[in-house]
Formats: sequence, C-alpha cells, structure tokens
Amino acid sequence: MSKARLADMEMAYDEAGSGPPLLLLHGFPFNRSMWREQAEALSGRYRVITPDLRGMGESSDGAAAEEPATMERMAQDVAALMDHLGIGRACIGGLSMGGYVALALVHKFPLRVRALLLADTKPQSDTPEESANREQRAQRVLAEGMEWFADLVMPQLLSPATLSEQPAIAERVRRMMIETNPAGAAAAMRGMARRIDQTLFLPSILAPTLIIVGSEDSISPLSDAELMRREIRGSRLEVIEGAGHVSNLERPMQFNYAFKDFLDALQP
Ligand code: MLT
Repeated sequence: MSKARLADMEMAYDEAGSGPPLLLLHGFPFNRSMWREQAEALSGRYRVITPDLRGMGESSDGAAAEEPATMERMAQDVAALMDHLGIGRACIGGLSMGGYVALALVHKFPLRVRALLLADTKPQSDTPEESANREQRAQRVLAEGMEWFADLVMPQLLSPATLSEQPAIAERVRRMMIETNPAGAAAAMRGMARRIDQTLFLPSILAPTLIIVGSEDSISPLSDAELMRREIRGSRLEVIEGAGHVSNLERPMQFNYAFKDFLDALQP
C-alpha cells in the first residue's frame, strides 16, 4: 500500500503492473481490496491503480470531514492522484458509487479519460425519498456504527446464488462494510444523496465505454445499464449472469474476461 499526500487528505492506493494506466474505483461502503481479482488478472498488461476513496479504507477523510463527500470532490481526488503519479490519461473504471465518481470525473475532466468502465451503476440522482433515507442512515451509522447497515444491505448486494453458494465472498463483502469508518461512510452517503443527474450528459461521453451489470443487480438494475448503453454512443453492455450488485467479486472470471476483452481492443 502507498499513500499520496493530496491537498487536504492522504489517499491510500495499491499499484500493480506496468503498461497503460487503469484506475479502479470501489463501491460503497467498500474499499480498494474489492478489486484484488481484477488487479491480479490485468496487471500483466496494465498499470492497475486502486485507491481508497476519501474517508474509506485507509484514506483519511480530509479537512472537511463533516461535509458531504460529493462525487465531484472524490473525482477531484482521483484526478489529483493521477497528477501525483504522473498520469495524464487513464482508463477509469468504477463500480456503483465508484461509477458515480467515474461519471463525475469524465464530466469534469473528459480529456483525462482514455476509456470508461461503468459497472453496476446508474446515471440518475437519488429521488427525494432516497436522499432522505440516506440522511437517516448517515445519522444512524454515526451513532451506532456499521454492523446494522451491513446486515440490512447484504441481501440487496449479492445475488441469492452468491449468498448461498459463496459464503467466503459474502463474508468478505460484509467485512469490508463493517471495517469502514462510520464518519467516512456518512460523508459518502451525504455526497451520494446530493449527486447530480448525469443522464443528459451521457451522449457527450466520447471515451470508449464498457458497461457491466449483474443480471440480478437490484440496486442498479439491468434497465439502468440498458439506458446507459442507449445514451453513450458506441458503448458495449455485458451482462454477468447470476451476479448481483458486486459482479466483479461474485463472478470474477466472467467480469475479467469482458473487461480484458474491452481493454485489449483499445488502440494504444
Ligand atoms: C454502492 O454499492 O456503491 C452503493 O450501493 C451505491 C448506492 O448506494 O447508490
């Protein structure tokens, strides 16, 4: 693990391999370890960088810890990490919240994005009910910690098949959630609750884009992936059969195959 000193925080990240740079952004409330299988599969040909987003994993939560960690702020952190590492342009991949950050990044800094992976994510903002619900949950994790949250969301995160047949994966996902700093989780929830709707921006994306979704993702369902497929010109959609919302962990072989195929077809 390395740490980059950015403007108001320290960002933890792992780096493996050499070649065209690839930055992978984790979901909520996870950390960079969720990309382990992708880093192993891709670092033979790519420079794979997996940061912990602000307030999560081993990254600090920054000077304004009590403020919402907006998707734009997290995108700025990722751009600052790229500066720190001397990377001008990279393939940016994100799962779920990582996808919200990837969309904010390509919106704000389009020239820094060589290609885009949007996995189990969606372009819409929260409805008023969803954002009110997030605020309640943010207050409760600050008061009570992460365990109740992990219990609540586990059945929504993983497909029934993963839950019954892959207990080690379920345990790994649960552990990531329980180990997340409640203050970082609350700031991220408040940031997600304020995220802007990116749907109308999608046709402006020029970077080659791969969309991946688990066939049983109930948080960012297939219909959202199909919407992105329609609106992002030339994009490709891969559906991972039997996976839920954390498709890269639930079905790593299928996920890696689709991702590698997409990356290998990019012109240098
Ligand atoms: C995630 O996996 O990052 C979250 O489910 C995203 C969200 O809560 O909208």
